[in-house]
Amino acid sequence: MMIKQNKAKPLLAHASWMAGLVLLSFTVLEAPLSGGAIADDAPSAARPSDDDLRRSDWIAAGRAKFISVCAYCHGSKGNAGKVKSFTERQNWDPQFIHDTIVNGRTRGANVMPPWGGSIPDDEIWRIVAYIKSLSLDFKGPIEAPAAK
Ligand code: HEC
Repeated sequence: MMIKQNKAKPLLAHASWMAGLVLLSFTVLEAPLSGGAIADDAPSAARPSDDDLRRSDWIAAGRAKFISVCAYCHGSKGNAGKVKSFTERQNWDPQFIHDTIVNGRTRGANVMPPWGGSIPDDEIWRIVAYIKSLSLDFKGPIEAPAAK
């Protein structure tokens, strides 16, 4: 009995130590990907044209993503939550919307989580296209160009 217990304990300790190491290496490996690469390098370089942001296929893809990830806090049209409704905006800067999604924002108890590490940048721009399509001054969608 004694011997069995003594053998089991170090094994368990070893297992949890290994699990900790695996978790730690995940954190370390992911940190530069989520924080650095996407938040700092991509945004300004990858900004699409205003016409791209009006593409109906981008708006549709962005809408699907918005509904699955963002509507929980913002409502399906950005008309719920802690900020002025997305349907009442004019001249809303796409880069500002993009960067807010990437970096998140905290104002007192209102926390907008950052998405730069979990949503690829091209998908974030499609979400921006959807948000822009809700604005008061949206000029209407542009049909997607035929397949290249
Ligand atoms: C956990 C709740 C939550 C989720 C999920 C969330 N947001 Fe937010 N969002 C907030 C809060 C709270 C604010 C306001 C922060 C503040 O007061 O500065 C905000 C602010 C914003 C703003 C800026 C609004 C303004 O007036 O400047 C945008 C744009 C935005 N969110 C888009 C998104 C998008 C797109 C998603 C999905 C990828 C998303 N949010 C997911 C809570 C959330």
